[in-house]
Amino acid sequence: MSTPPSPSPGGPCTAIAGTNIALVKYWGKRSGPFNLPAAGSLSLTLRELDTRTTVRFDQQPGADRVRLNGQEADQRTARRVSAFLDLVRQQAGITGAAEVVSDNTVPTAAGLASSASGFAALALAASRAAGLTLPPEALSVLARRGSGSAARSIFGGLVEMHAGTRDDGTDAYARPLLEGDAWPLRLVVAVTAEGPKAIGSTEAMRRTAETSPYYQAWIASVDADLRDARAAIVERDLRRLGAVAERSAMRMHASALAADPPILYWSPATIAAMDTVRQLRSRGVDAFFTIDAGPHVKVLCEPPHAAAVQAALASTSGVLRTIVASPGPGARVVQETPS
Ligand code: PMV
Repeated sequence: MSTPPSPSPGGPCTAIAGTNIALVKYWGKRSGPFNLPAAGSLSLTLRELDTRTTVRFDQQPGADRVRLNGQEADQRTARRVSAFLDLVRQQAGITGAAEVVSDNTVPTAAGLASSASGFAALALAASRAAGLTLPPEALSVLARRGSGSAARSIFGGLVEMHAGTRDDGTDAYARPLLEGDAWPLRLVVAVTAEGPKAIGSTEAMRRTAETSPYYQAWIASVDADLRDARAAIVERDLRRLGAVAERSAMRMHASALAADPPILYWSPATIAAMDTVRQLRSRGVDAFFTIDAGPHVKVLCEPPHAAAVQAALASTSGVLRTIVASPGPGARVVQETPS
């Protein structure tokens, strides 16, 4: 493959990407080596929860050095990062070992989607440091190879991931739907546990697809939710978008719950926070929850209600802390040094 000219072939590059939270969930892969989603998804990229990653390639091959949040990465993570860097090296036609330094603004916590911002920032920083200047769709395709949700964090605001139909995944990438400031939204995160999640999303998706009698029904339901969510976004209709988000999350978790052995990410605090959201709604506060592969609850609302939502979640039994997040930009280069 030819290498397009780059402002910094071989120089170190630092990129930042915000994480994203899906309002129409991604839960299931097609088979094959390209990490292809079985259905589309739709998400909001966030400003406050992001990853900053610097990549530098040596001239010589060797072992990659990976530091995450100030510490040497554990073996499993380092292997996953190196496998991803191999894709970049292959695409750029280089062989040098890499040095990767990556930091999350919020400590990596279960289900706070750090792999989305992590692989989006890594895709951008590594491709540029390798001398490639990829267009956004190609960057999204690359990020997807690291983590399905990372494909969406290449873009800011409300973003749709297209499942595509090709076996090589070249049409499985995200596209922006609406810039962040075009519809001011808030996502209040209720953190309900610290530490890694019980079962990673890749393994959980595989088990759901192979053993859950509800998996096919879940996948078959996604397109209608995507259509509904798109229409709600065009109309800036929070109640409609919120209803889709809650339905999509519940159906995703229902499919996982029916796996064998079952996959249950919720804790008592998760259910208490869901109840808080329903109580808020009964008092006229438009707030809607979503839940990922972990026990935390993320609540969608508009800015005038964010303080009330945060206060109600903060006083919910089992909620450890809350973060008010807002729509943010897509992945961007913040520093480049020509070699
Ligand atoms: O990107 P992955 O492979 O970690 O999968 C993400 C899965 C969910 O966060 C649960 C849903 C989503 O669409 O982000």
